[in-house]
Amino acid sequence: MEAPPKDTPTARIRRPRLVETKTLPNPTNYVVALNGEFAAWAYDEERAKVHRGEWRKTYGVSPSAPLDLEIGTGNGYFFAHRAKVEPTRSLIGMEVKYKPLIQSIRRARREGSENARIVRYDASCLEDIFAPEELDHVFIHHPDPWPRQRDWKHRLIQTEFLDILWSLMRPGSFVNFKTDSEDYYDWALPLFESSKFKKLRATRDLHKSEWATENFVTHFESLFLQKGQAIFYCRFEKP
Ligand SMILES: C[S@@+](CC[C@H](N)C(=O)[O-])C[C@H]1O[C@@H](n2cnc3c(N)ncnc32)[C@H](O)[C@@H]1O
Repeated sequence: MEAPPKDTPTARIRRPRLVETKTLPNPTNYVVALNGEFAAWAYDEERAKVHRGEWRKTYGVSPSAPLDLEIGTGNGYFFAHRAKVEPTRSLIGMEVKYKPLIQSIRRARREGSENARIVRYDASCLEDIFAPEELDHVFIHHPDPWPRQRDWKHRLIQTEFLDILWSLMRPGSFVNFKTDSEDYYDWALPLFESSKFKKLRATRDLHKSEWATENFVTHFESLFLQKGQAIFYCRFEKP
């Protein structure tokens, strides 16, 4: 990535917080699968950057076709479900850990979905991978909550992140945000509200809300539901 001009004190260089796949000394079977068995649908950091601005070509769809993103797919139950129930929309997942990354794309492939791809990348540097207005809907479900105050800087939802996300999404698309952490929700909601996004939905108890029936319960969500915890949810639109 190009360095910002030296005379702009507020500009900072954004770098992914992850070790590059090609430099790993002892690749696991999941790492090998990423650039081997699943290489046609899964991309490491280096290969992912090549498709910036041209992701739709990897699906063989038109430049106007919808392309949705799920950040932090985990073991991929929502990812595979979404790809299957929306076959006319392309779906790209983003995950930092190799095991869930491979589980996600494998699950979607087993379901017979041709519209799923996945990349290994740090979502806090989305702009390395996607060009302005390249994305449609974005799903962020149960992101790592980073509960300790000294770690809040690691939370994905930040003012700068929302500004960048806005620029990467097409008008008429939405961001779906769910979390089991009340503390994270109370952090994220005001940031969304003070961003350029427009609020469409917000509830402090998704499963008692009018949106419960259409909701797909993710793996992490099921763990927290079993403990009787509420799920916090909001949806914001780029008008
Ligand atoms: C708590 S899990 C939730 C998984 C899934 N969305 C669910 O609801 O079951 C969070 C996932 O996000 C991934 N993750 C964390 N930080 C990330 C980042 N900066 N970029 C991409 N993925 C990230 C983690 O590896 C993990 O798989």
